[in-house]
Amino acid sequence: MCGIVGIVGDQPVSERLVDALKRLEYRGYDSAGVATINGGELHRRRAEGKLVNLETRLKEEPLAGTIGIAHTRWATHGAPTERNAHPHFTEGVAVVHNGIIENFAELKSELTAAGAEFQTETDTEVVAQLLASFRREGMGRREAMHAMLKRVSGAYALAVLFEDDPSTIMAARNGPPLAIGHGEGEMFLGSDAIALAPFTNEITYLIDGDWAVIGRTGVHIFDIDGSPVTRPRQVSMAAAYMIDKGNHRHFMEKEIYEQPEVISHALGHYVNFIDNRVLPVSEVIDFAEVPSLAISACGTAYLAGLVGKYWFERYARLPVEIDVASEFRYREIPLTPQSAALFISQSGETADTLASLRYCKEHGLKIGAVVNTRESTIARESDAVFPIFAGPEIGVASTKAFTCQLAVLAALAIAAGKARGTISDAEEQAMVRSLAEMPRLMGQVLNSIQPKIEFLSRELSKCRDVLYLGRGTSFPLAMEGALKLKEISYIHAEGYAAGELKHGPIALIDENMPVIVIAPHDRFFDKTVSNMQEVAARGGRIILITDEKGAAASTLDTMHTLVLPSVDEIVAPMIFSLPVQLLAYHTAVHMGTDVDQPRNLAKSVTVE
Ligand code: F6R
Repeated sequence: MCGIVGIVGDQPVSERLVDALKRLEYRGYDSAGVATINGGELHRRRAEGKLVNLETRLKEEPLAGTIGIAHTRWATHGAPTERNAHPHFTEGVAVVHNGIIENFAELKSELTAAGAEFQTETDTEVVAQLLASFRREGMGRREAMHAMLKRVSGAYALAVLFEDDPSTIMAARNGPPLAIGHGEGEMFLGSDAIALAPFTNEITYLIDGDWAVIGRTGVHIFDIDGSPVTRPRQVSMAAAYMIDKGNHRHFMEKEIYEQPEVISHALGHYVNFIDNRVLPVSEVIDFAEVPSLAISACGTAYLAGLVGKYWFERYARLPVEIDVASEFRYREIPLTPQSAALFISQSGETADTLASLRYCKEHGLKIGAVVNTRESTIARESDAVFPIFAGPEIGVASTKAFTCQLAVLAALAIAAGKARGTISDAEEQAMVRSLAEMPRLMGQVLNSIQPKIEFLSRELSKCRDVLYLGRGTSFPLAMEGALKLKEISYIHAEGYAAGELKHGPIALIDENMPVIVIAPHDRFFDKTVSNMQEVAARGGRIILITDEKGAAASTLDTMHTLVLPSVDEIVAPMIFSLPVQLLAYHTAVHMGTDVDQPRNLAKSVTVE
C-alpha cells in the first residue's frame, strides 16, 4: 500500500510532490522519498520514518527539477530503512511502486545471474533492474517499459523516470489505483484523486493492465498488448474536500465529532424524512428476489458488515453469508448466481475485498459496493454503488466511516425488508423515524460523555489487557471496540460474544483485566447481565456501557457505568460506537501514541 505521485511540470516540483505525499501519508509512513531529473541527471532524497523526516532532509539538501516522482512507503519486502526507501535507482532508471511484485524472487535470481547488483531487499528493485537490463540490450524507453510489464506479475502501481528523457513519466497499473491529473501545461500522477486535489480536478483513471506515457501536455495510454487505448477524463469530487484538523488535536478526534453531521448527510441519500420511508435503493439488485446475500470486507468494515448481517436476517429474513475478505475468496463457498453480494470498504481499494468481489463476479452474482470513495476500484467494478458520504477519513483508525457504513446498511436492510414484505409500513416508518433522530442523539452523546471517558481512559491506559463483551449487534461492536483500542493504544484487547465468555475467556478474568460490557437495554439485556454476574463473581472489574433503561434495570456492582440515552434497537450500534471510539482515542492520547498514524498500519491496504 504505499502512495505514489508524479509531476511533469514547468515549475519546480519537489515541494509540490511532498505536499501531495502528505495527502497520501495515510497509505503508509515507514519511509518516504522523492526523485527529480535536473541537469540531465537523476537525483533523489530519501528518509526513514514519517514524511516530516524527508521534509527536513529536503530543507538541508533541496532538490531542483521540474519533473519528479515521489513515494510514501508501507513496508512489505525489506525493512523500513532509508536503503529500502523508494525511489529505487538503477543505471539511469528511477522507480516508485505501490503493490507487490509476486515473481520478484525468480526475476531477482535471473537478473543476479546475469550480473545485476541489487542494492535493496525490496521486490520493487527488480522493476528498475529489468528496465535497466532491457535498455542495455538496446531497447527504447517505451519498448523497455512494455517488456518489463510483460515479465512482472503481481499488483502494482508504478511510476518510472528515465534519466535520458527529462520530459516524461511512465506509469503502469495492475491492481492498486492510479490517477492521472490533467493540468494547464503540467500533468500529474497519483495513487488517488485527493493527492492531486490541489493541482487539478480533471482525472483519468488507468485500469488494470494499462500503462501510460505522460508528458507536460498530455498522456498516451496503452493496454498490456501495447495498443493505444482511451480512458475517460472525469471531474473528481476530491478537490471539494478540505483536509485539515480544524480545532482538533487529531484527525481521529475531528472525525469522531463529525459523525452527527456526516451521518445525517448519508441518511439523506437513503431515506425520505418527510414521510419516513426508505428511498428505492437499486434497480440492479432486487432484494425481493435474491435468495441470499454474501457480505465481505476487512477489519472495521467487516464488523460493520457483521452488524448488517443481523439486520438483513432479522428485518428482511434474508440469509447472509459473511466472512473477512481474505478468507472469503479462498473458502470455495458454493454461491448461486441469483444471489447478490455486498462489499464494504471505506477506501474502495482494499486488495482482499476487491479479490472477493471479483470472485463473486466470476460466479455471476450481482455486486453491490458500500464505499466512501465513489471513484474507487471497488465502486467502479460493482453493479450498484451505495456511497456512505462520510467525506475523507484521514485518521488511520476508522470511525466516521464505520458509523456511516452502519447507517447505509440499516437503510438497505429496511429497504430489503420492505421489498420482501417482512416489515410493515408502520415498522418501516418507526425505524426511519429512529434513524432521523440519530444525528441529534449522537451530538447529545458526544457533548455529554467526555468527562467520564477521560476518567475511564486514564484507567485503561494502565492496563495490559482489556476484554470487550456484547450480544446481538453489540457483539460486532465489542470486537470493534477491541480493534480500535489495540490499533491506536497498542493495549491488547479482545472482543467476545458475551455468551461465549464462559466457554474459555472467563479463565482470564482477574482484577487486572477490565471487562467493558456493551449492553443497551435490548432483547438480550438480561442475558448479558447474567454474563456480567459471572465476571463479577470472579473478581472481574466491569465497565458497563448501557442506556438509561439498562442503568435502571441493572442491580450489578460495576467499576463504572456509562449511561447513554435509551434508543431504538436499530440505531443503538451507531450511538454505542461513540463511547467505544472515544475510549480508544483518549486512552491512546494518555499513552502518547501516534493516534492518527499508529505503528505498522496504513489506511488503504492494497496488498493481499
Ligand atoms: C480499523 C481500520 C481497518 C479497515 C480495513 C478495511 O480502524 O480502519 O480495519 O477497516 O483495513 O479498509 P477499507 O474499509 O478501506 O476496505
